Amino acid sequence: MHKSKITGLGFEVPEKVVLNADLEKIMDTSDEWIQSRSGIKERRWASEDIATSDLALGASKKAMEMAGVSPEDIDLVIVGTLSSDYFFPGVSAQLQDKLNLRNVAAFDIKAACSAFVYCLSVGDQFIRSGMAETALIVGAETQTKLIDKTTRGRDIAVLFGDGAGAAIIQTSNDDSGILSTHLHCEGKDMRNLWMEGPGSAPGVWINNKQAIADGRLSPFMNGREVFRNAVTRFPEVIQEAMDENGLTMDDIKLIIPHQANNRISQAVAKRMGIDMDRIYSNIHKYGNTTAASIPIALTEAFQEGKIKKGDHIILAAFGAGYTWASAAIRW
Ligand code: ACO
Repeated sequence: MHKSKITGLGFEVPEKVVLNADLEKIMDTSDEWIQSRSGIKERRWASEDIATSDLALGASKKAMEMAGVSPEDIDLVIVGTLSSDYFFPGVSAQLQDKLNLRNVAAFDIKAACSAFVYCLSVGDQFIRSGMAETALIVGAETQTKLIDKTTRGRDIAVLFGDGAGAAIIQTSNDDSGILSTHLHCEGKDMRNLWMEGPGSAPGVWINNKQAIADGRLSPFMNGREVFRNAVTRFPEVIQEAMDENGLTMDDIKLIIPHQANNRISQAVAKRMGIDMDRIYSNIHKYGNTTAASIPIALTEAFQEGKIKKGDHIILAAFGAGYTWASAAIRW
């Protein structure tokens, strides 16, 4: 069984930069509140004419170019998103078409902020089993189209941004690659971070005016509960990845966490007894881009020269579901 390795990375964000000062004009908030609670200075918002698959396409082309693979080489597409272009089918179908790929398997995974690590894990299993040799793994969102951009939705609206990140994974013939992945879900608390509609549960379809008036067709977050769970699950799942591979924190060059909130990353660093320079952060530029945040952060960390051949890194995620996940990688 051959593990997979990441051979290409790329990301794409919309052009439109939204500063905290811009948000002050449309809702009751302040740059000081946003920066002190989250570390976010700006984020990108997709304009009306940009769909999730457009950002996914841009990121995928860059990852393919870095890996030196052509459309014929790709034999699997997995996209993580909660803001797909259409109710169905998934973004993976549009992406497969836009890239002119062969009629290979393409599907979406809806695991919110953990989606990219979930997709990476599934892709890795396909490669380990011999079902695929070259897979395109994407996290992409235009979720700011879903959020309530008024004072009522401000706790969510200030945190989130749009973007896409992509990775090409291929069969590894040496000791580098994805060493292990660890996926978890605890559905019982899903109501602390969710968007009820439009959905098939009673009362949350698009024809329910009351549900719309009550804000049930926009994301909801119980910030304190999310914070409390995130700062427990991140260290747990990072430790799980190290234990599985007989690694200690001294062996880890960099942790690339889901960019949820800088205060969450600071609390994780404190709990794990490490300095913040071991935990990558670019949330100040893009906000929380849900499924896209890890591949965007991974791409930037690589481009900045922070990851070199032979380094051990850990990807770690926590988000709606709750879901949480990690991947241990030897570069
Ligand atoms: N601007 C100004 N004020 C705001 C905003 C805003 N954008 N949003 C909320 N507030 C107000 C609230 O209405 C509340 O006002 P009140 O006291 O008059 O009722 C007050 O700010 C609460 O602020 P804090 O005292 O800082 O409250 P708390 O300490 O609970 O922090 C926070 C709230 C920042 C949301 C915190 O719980 C948190 O960081 N949670 C994590 C949430 C998060 O980052 N999620 C990431 C997305 S999910 C994921 O990716 C896993």
